[in-house]
Amino acid sequence: MKSEGKEKPASNGHFPVMLPEVLAALNPKDGETYIDATFGGGGYSRAILQSANCNVIGLDRDPLAIERGRELEAEFPNKFKIIKSEFSKINELNLPQVDGIVFDIGVSSFQIDDASRGFSFMRDGPLDMRMGGDVASAAEVLATHDADALANIFWKYGEEKNSRKIARAIVQDRDEKPFITTLQLASLIERLSGFKREKIHPATRVFQALRIYVNDELGELEHALIGAEALLKPDGRLVVVSFHSLEDRIVKNFLTERSLNVQGSRYAPQTTPKPTSFEIIRKKAILPSADEVANNPRSRSAKLRVAVRTQNPVFFIKN
Ligand SMILES: C[S@@+](CC[C@H](N)C(=O)[O-])C[C@H]1O[C@@H](n2cnc3c(N)ncnc32)[C@H](O)[C@@H]1O
Repeated sequence: MKSEGKEKPASNGHFPVMLPEVLAALNPKDGETYIDATFGGGGYSRAILQSANCNVIGLDRDPLAIERGRELEAEFPNKFKIIKSEFSKINELNLPQVDGIVFDIGVSSFQIDDASRGFSFMRDGPLDMRMGGDVASAAEVLATHDADALANIFWKYGEEKNSRKIARAIVQDRDEKPFITTLQLASLIERLSGFKREKIHPATRVFQALRIYVNDELGELEHALIGAEALLKPDGRLVVVSFHSLEDRIVKNFLTERSLNVQGSRYAPQTTPKPTSFEIIRKKAILPSADEVANNPRSRSAKLRVAVRTQNPVFFIKN
């Protein structure tokens, strides 16, 4: 996740995170086709289009990102195409096999900085948090889930230590006054945690948890990786930038399971190696440079993983 930073937004609203590293991993070449599965402000798509005579297909679930995509379509006719879709459906869009797919998971600065989207506990707005698609808003979740379910969400996706206390207070207060604005929820959490000027705002974890739940971000990622596996040509590059340890774990486990790097114990009986669909290029995740973190604090929790599709067909489809 891109947490709330103090930096000013770039003129186009979003600093593309780890852009040089993403380009190096994707290695765009003339005549190839790439999918930018999280178009956002189009920072990656534009850079890919500028670095080779290639084609890019952009996806996003957010209608406002699609509008920005239309502008890039006009700038790069016949080279760029934007499609409104959840990336979990990447393999249901009748797209051609491609040479590279990049994901930049999470929320964009456009979304966080727009109070009317309800992602920020620092800006008053409706408690919405939907990136797009037909899903329940955060206000609807707070109005309909019982205390146990809410506590589980806050704990599982936010590791919020006061999850039970906060959930009970929401359920207790909501009959009298439903939670419909961001500042209403943020001030309840401040009150319960005895808000001191700490490094991170006490509402950070609950807002993050609600956002992940509302948008089913982890389920989306799991399905998207399986879809990407089927869509990549042999030697195609998969590049994933994530911002949350739960997301990074999903990517890491998926690639480990699918890669040649899975080694059995040397004491275990010899088994036939299983066919694999990815080769991991670098075992450890790549992190943003100190300079980037200084210039764009929102990049500080980014982790980039890259793998190359092997020649083997897909053996593990469980979509
Ligand atoms: C971090 S931003 C991407 C920024 C982009 N790389 C750039 O340079 O401008 C993430 C974008 O992915 C989109 N997104 C997140 N989850 C999605 C999903 N499951 N399906 C499609 N788009 C998604 C969000 O709406 C947001 O616009």
